[in-house]
Amino acid sequence: MAWTIRSQLGRVSLFVKAKAARPTALGTFERRRFAGAPGALPPVGLRVCEEFVSPREEQILLEEVEPSFRKLKYQFDHWDDAIHGYREIEREKWGAEAAPLLHRVCETAFGTGREVSPLIHVLDLDAHGYIKPHVDSIKFCGNTIAGLSLLSTCIMRFVHERTAEQMDVLLRRRSLYIMWDKVRYEFTHEILKNEESYYEGKHIPRSRRIAIISRNFPEEKT
Ligand code: OGA
Ligand code: MN
Repeated sequence: MAWTIRSQLGRVSLFVKAKAARPTALGTFERRRFAGAPGALPPVGLRVCEEFVSPREEQILLEEVEPSFRKLKYQFDHWDDAIHGYREIEREKWGAEAAPLLHRVCETAFGTGREVSPLIHVLDLDAHGYIKPHVDSIKFCGNTIAGLSLLSTCIMRFVHERTAEQMDVLLRRRSLYIMWDKVRYEFTHEILKNEESYYEGKHIPRSRRIAIISRNFPEEKT
């Protein structure tokens, strides 16, 4: 049910449009390898676990999602969307080989915290696609977002909405990123297009990329 994402999650309001402010200062970012106990997150609000899945595990996940994408066209024409050149699905049921991988993501990213949405968002970005700066909706998504980044290495840019502090993060193919709290709420995030995909002065070619994104629910207001 690919196109229900808009209505169910309210994709249009899944994003809050970023303000037009351009970053002025380059922030620093400490890249961490996955080493800690599951769920034990340092207090920065951003963590990248490189080689979170093996090439074989990546293959399992890709084989599982590819058939659902085959019938969908990349969307390029919605100029006001946060994402350009993409197609997406949500998936609840995973095969016997893929399910444990998604469990591993959940254990690592969410621990025993707030309830995780069983609907996993799979976003396929065309080689010419990119994600514009946005903050995921606080109405539909909770305090933690975890994304497995497959097929292509890319740059994820975070810009603080108030101070314009900027951090560029190299997301290597098969890494898992987890953003929560301060980084999730105060920074916009974006995936750079190929032409802008530079890290420490070096061009990082961006080809087709698939992200498998898990989110927890927001706290219920009582
Ligand atoms: C999103 C998003 C990031 C990614 O869909 O809201 O920011 O890793 N995706 O593709
Ligand atoms: Mn997002």
